[in-house]
Amino acid sequence: MKANTPILITGGSGFIGSHVARLFVERYPDYGIFNLDALTYAGNLENLKDIEDRPNYTFIKGDITDEIFINDLFEKHRFEGVIHLAAESHVDRSITDPLAFVKTNVIGTMVLLNAFKNIWHHDFSGKRFYHISTDEVYGTLGNTGLFTETTPYDPNSPYSASKASSDHFVRAYGETYGLPYIITNCSNNYGPNQFPEKLIPLFINNIIHQKPLPVYGDGNYTRDWLYVLDHARAIDVAYHRGKNGETYNIGGFNEWKNIDLVKLLCKLMDEALGRSKGTSERLITFVKDRPGHDLRYAIDATKIKAELGWEPSLVFEEGLKNTIKWYLENQQWLDHVTSGEYQNYYQEQYQTR
Ligand code: NAD
Ligand code: DAU
Repeated sequence: MKANTPILITGGSGFIGSHVARLFVERYPDYGIFNLDALTYAGNLENLKDIEDRPNYTFIKGDITDEIFINDLFEKHRFEGVIHLAAESHVDRSITDPLAFVKTNVIGTMVLLNAFKNIWHHDFSGKRFYHISTDEVYGTLGNTGLFTETTPYDPNSPYSASKASSDHFVRAYGETYGLPYIITNCSNNYGPNQFPEKLIPLFINNIIHQKPLPVYGDGNYTRDWLYVLDHARAIDVAYHRGKNGETYNIGGFNEWKNIDLVKLLCKLMDEALGRSKGTSERLITFVKDRPGHDLRYAIDATKIKAELGWEPSLVFEEGLKNTIKWYLENQQWLDHVTSGEYQNYYQEQYQTR
């Protein structure tokens, strides 16, 4: 790629996007990294404060569903690569407001695909549209088996249906217009800067404040957890070395039942806070289940390991300890994101459970 290659990262002010943007800005001084983010409740400029003055970084506030704005932006900057993370990302919110997920995740992706196609359709060589997706598009596993890249799509929540739909459009643009794309489908991420609506940061915040820990159903649901920096490294590798038109699964080879994870988190939090053994576990409260709750996700990540040499680097307990440390050292961050609108969200989400 030539010097100052313009690369667009969408959703760079969110959880995973901020780690990806930082990694690219630091590792690739010859790229011009543009972070386009609408700064919804999940986007936060504080996440990238440390790199905001770098010469190869530019923040742009904007909405991926705004077609005129996006087309103008692509005309102006002629992005040679797009790494698309912007999305509505929380399953519970998709159950209360599904249309918001269709707008951002489906229509927003379409607007970006069209803008990219319009700029480069005469010559796609050296260009790349990288769509970040999720393992939830595959639906649910039973007690055995793993999701591979050929597992049929079978989404169960409005969130996963919207992500599946956007994946299909990306593929269709590859087939129909020759648009050079790759897609990765990743398992559950955790780590610093995750918004405290997701299981791990929500429970860390509640433990700090000694509030109940609302475990959905019987807690016997399984997720495959990956440290966010490992995901960011996988995105780097896939962006640079992945093959056009390919899908890669990314996962941690790290399955945990929710209830076991929550008990480990309680133990580590008690140790970190100097509280006596068992203090946080007493906060566990079983509440009404999430509708359409997928029983188990687990990724077979052998393709990305075999073809691109990526594998997770961190063992879970170490990653969890790093995460806890980060939240305890950044309570101001937590306080900022849990004031205002968050309180209403929390009330509505949990009061009737
Ligand atoms: P997040 O909710 O933390 O961040 C999403 C970001 O997108 C926010 O900064 C938000 O402001 C921005 N955004 C939302 N709507 C926008 C719009 N219309 N225009 C521009 N920006 C908008 O999400 P995350 O957890 O960091 O997930 C990032 C991506 O990775 C998503 O596509 C998600 O589906 C995918 N993913 C997430 C996980 C996970 O465990 N969190 C796992 C696999 C895949
Ligand atoms: O698998 C990848 C997906 O992981 C991403 O695509 C999504 O963006 C991300 O949000 C995540 O989805 P999950 O629904 O698995 O994550 P969440 O943190 O919401 O829930 C994890 C598990 O914990 C799930 O089984 C539901 C349960 N849970 C969650 C919350 C918020 C609870 O028991 N109580 C809770 O309060």
